Amino acid sequence: DTTPDVDLALFGALGDLALRKLYPALYHLDRDGLLADGARVLGLARQDIEGEDFRKRVREALKKRVKAAVLDSDCLERFIGRLDYLKLDFATVEGYEAIRDWREAAPDERPMTVYLAVPASIYGDICRNLDASGSLDDETRVVVEKPIGYDLESSKEINDAIGSVFPESRIYRIDHYLGKETVQNLIALRFANPLFGNQWNQNQISHVEITVAEQVGIEGRWGYFDKAGQLRDMVQNHLLQLLCLIAMDPPSNLDADAIRDEKVKVLKALKPFSQETIGRDVVRGQYIAGSINGASVPGYLDEEGANTDSRTETFVAMKTEVANWRWAGVPFYLRTGKRMPEKLSQIVIHFRQQPHYIFDPDQRSLASNKLIIRLQPEEGIALQVLTKDGGLDKGMRLRPGPLHLDFNNAFPKSRIPDAYERLLLEVMKGQQYLFVRRDEVEYAWRWADQLIAGWAERDMPPRRYPAGSWGPVASIAMITQDGRSWYEDY
Ligand code: BG6
Repeated sequence: DTTPDVDLALFGALGDLALRKLYPALYHLDRDGLLADGARVLGLARQDIEGEDFRKRVREALKKRVKAAVLDSDCLERFIGRLDYLKLDFATVEGYEAIRDWREAAPDERPMTVYLAVPASIYGDICRNLDASGSLDDETRVVVEKPIGYDLESSKEINDAIGSVFPESRIYRIDHYLGKETVQNLIALRFANPLFGNQWNQNQISHVEITVAEQVGIEGRWGYFDKAGQLRDMVQNHLLQLLCLIAMDPPSNLDADAIRDEKVKVLKALKPFSQETIGRDVVRGQYIAGSINGASVPGYLDEEGANTDSRTETFVAMKTEVANWRWAGVPFYLRTGKRMPEKLSQIVIHFRQQPHYIFDPDQRSLASNKLIIRLQPEEGIALQVLTKDGGLDKGMRLRPGPLHLDFNNAFPKSRIPDAYERLLLEVMKGQQYLFVRRDEVEYAWRWADQLIAGWAERDMPPRRYPAGSWGPVASIAMITQDGRSWYEDY
């Protein structure tokens, strides 16, 4: 299922995202035979280097990033042969005509995809300059990265600027979590399995947990991160997208808009926070020095470039609710933080207990099913069921155990592709279902903005937690106050 011949103009061609994620993803697509023979890539950046130097930099990046087992020298050179480079000052229109010329030099007519791997503040300039230089046509697609703005207002400005040149049907807003294989599996799991489809509501589910724990800290991005914080960096986009896929009603088909309409309904139904619920149901944290895997790591305020007065949160935990017919009264507990003991993204669906319980009273708290969806590191799905404990001496003691689907074992031959491979492939095929529509971004900001405004009103510093811990103790108390605990199988 190869893509059509396609040209990719990549702004920010020497940036971190391009070197770390985009070239490796394109290389893998090429190696797997998914890039059309004639596909070409034009790298655009400010640096004054020759095409040969550019190709050398990309070759080095690939050698560093791609696993040796799949780094085939013929494929590598074939991919490198697709690359051209253009030095460009993105802010002014001079020089952009070279993009038009590059397109005209293609052996045939083909659509162009413009990928903006640059800060959102220059999306508008780039779109206008591309248009003014005659480099676009009615099929050109544009791919943009998060963060789309800093709040609702700034996201509207950015969306307006892109929208003044590209119609919504050709704008691909990336949330790379939607490209993760297991995240897409949420759709298959929920809507292909009657076993779950029929149970997926407040009658059967008591609560839902979403944990996205990261081991990394700020990774030299203090300037960006300190203005954003974990709520804007992770919750407004990735965690809310996961929540939407868990909570949405079944779409009538798999078309992009059918799925996105349902996600928007969830975002609109998210309960806003009040000062009372912020105090009770939301915990902000910031890491102090600690250790991870036995190595000491500095605190957030000691990171390079840090402003030592910063109150920016590097951890958030919250209880939220989707106020609609399906989910009324079902808490969604979310937590995400930097410098946690391990990288772990997982969703746990806790089913309700049986209405009448007949086993050992001491084991009552065990007696419910959990569906555990592990997004990373080891992708898999486990359903925790109760069986009788083995052995003659155990009577009718219960034992919880998993029915386990580990993707690496279940599909040993298939490499789990990186999110960017899937996303680039879908853009080139012109399919938008894994991309975020404008109204989704804006409803997500509307919800995040009222929470941030509530924090500002309270004017409370974040709670401290040592790097290498699971966050402030208050985040454990927050869930314990409901008689529950974070699922701990790690
Ligand atoms: C990015 C955030 O969107 O996602 C980073 O800006 C974060 O701060 C990253 O580290 C996490 O992505 P992943 O795929 O490693 O879970």
